[in-house]
Amino acid sequence: MDFALVILLGYLLGSIPFGLVLTRLSGGPDIREIGSGNIGATNVLRTGNKGIAALTLLLDAGKAAGAGYIALYLFGAPMQFLAAAAALFGHCYPVWLRFKGGKGVATFFGALLSLLWPVGLIAAAMWLLVAFTTRYSSAAALCAAAFAIVASVFLAVWPAVAMVAFMAVLIFWRHRENITRLKAGTESRIGQKD
Ligand code: G3P
Repeated sequence: MDFALVILLGYLLGSIPFGLVLTRLSGGPDIREIGSGNIGATNVLRTGNKGIAALTLLLDAGKAAGAGYIALYLFGAPMQFLAAAAALFGHCYPVWLRFKGGKGVATFFGALLSLLWPVGLIAAAMWLLVAFTTRYSSAAALCAAAFAIVASVFLAVWPAVAMVAFMAVLIFWRHRENITRLKAGTESRIGQKD
């Protein structure tokens, strides 16, 4: 029963589509109709509204952290990892958007930096390195996710490793179209409008 409640809590928090809601509230377009069509901060940045993009990043990260800490407080360890994984799933497949959600990168970092900070710092360093050298947000996310699995094996207990592996696999799955565009050389760079 506890497992079901933790999964429901994480899923519902994770499924809040902050990018879509904030862009609309600020008078912007339907974020699903511009750029990559993704509801995440990278695509919100393509509207030109840096403030809303930053807020989307923070809130998408915060919902995994929030789900994790609430689960830890209510149910104890290691439920925080299950809640954060469910939050990432909710972000990617939100019931409110007919299960067409985001790619999970900010939510992934929110989970790592709040629940597993040494792994989070390594993944964040990898993201920054790849993002600054290539300006591809997707490539940075994929490298960070792959490195996070390796780092977690050395630095974390098994429930956390399972969470990281689940999240990384989901992030790769959600970036299928980006991977195709990266291979074809047609992927948009950070801040690029189309
Ligand atoms: O954080 C999402 C990023 O990895 C890709 O976003 O909009 O370029 O598909 P986007």
